[in-house]
Amino acid sequence: TTTGTPNHFLSIDDFSYAELRGMLNQAVALKQRLKDGDRPQLLKDKVLAMIFERQSTRTRVSFDVGMRQLGGETIMLSGQEMQLSREETLEDTAKVMSRYVDAIMIRILSHADLLELAGGATVPVINGLTRRAHPCQIMADLMTFEEHRGDIRGAKVAWVGDSNNVLHSWVNAAELFGCQLTIAVPDEYSPEKDLMQDIKRAGSAVRLIEDAREAVEGADLVITDTWVSMGDVDAAERRRVLKPYQVDTSLMALANKDALFMHCLPAHRGDEVTDEVIDGPQSVVFDEAENRLHAQKAILCWAFGVETN
Ligand code: CP
Ligand code: NVA
Repeated sequence: TTTGTPNHFLSIDDFSYAELRGMLNQAVALKQRLKDGDRPQLLKDKVLAMIFERQSTRTRVSFDVGMRQLGGETIMLSGQEMQLSREETLEDTAKVMSRYVDAIMIRILSHADLLELAGGATVPVINGLTRRAHPCQIMADLMTFEEHRGDIRGAKVAWVGDSNNVLHSWVNAAELFGCQLTIAVPDEYSPEKDLMQDIKRAGSAVRLIEDAREAVEGADLVITDTWVSMGDVDAAERRRVLKPYQVDTSLMALANKDALFMHCLPAHRGDEVTDEVIDGPQSVVFDEAENRLHAQKAILCWAFGVETN
């Protein structure tokens, strides 16, 4: 499109099932082509600027490599080094950067800040994680599940631990993709208001409980994430309250025999997951990390409006 809103990728629930399915199909195709030694230069001469207000390993490297594989280039920026840290607004920053680059990827804690940037940008903006959502991660997660087990529709998914950004995007995905998501979180860290609204909107696709064992029973996929997300301040208290939610072999034993285990990484081994589980035969965490690359290449192609086949 040449007029109106650019192709922003901000939140899973901005999209229809068909749109996300299209991106996932392209991700699978691009992954296969790469394995076959084919590197289509679909984004030749395009420049992606990446702004990181927070740490990253996977998001940073996978977007950088993904752009290069598609023939594009990247500029890496840290929020602290930009005039953003001297109170230039996100909107002005977006307007200026839109005059230079072809798209912007940003990791920033405040989702409102992300929306401000997107509102000011005339080029696509991609959400590389906010406190509210991590949509690129969930695209990789969906891709990984289907790679191992086929269509995720109807699958039983268990989320165990904290209620955070990754969970929020999973709630949105469960609604769209028709999986049965059961969330077990302690009352102390129950979902914030807008996540709760999305859980309600998802209807029968999403169930919220407190008991980790009940959530995992009969699950096809067990997911957890760190107990202390970026921006959380009460680390010691979180570790104490969330201790019963550790994914260990006895918890995994309640799931289906062929259940997969996922974690977006970085993992805090010995907290939310044991070594035995994350290094065990059911764990697909490194496929999941790899698929960030392929899923994001498809997201980039969609954002740039480029046909991949
Ligand atoms: N999963 C994920 O987004 O990892 P990084 O924080 O390393 O980018
Ligand atoms: N929930 C984690 C995900 C890190 C990729 C965080 O927000 O820190």
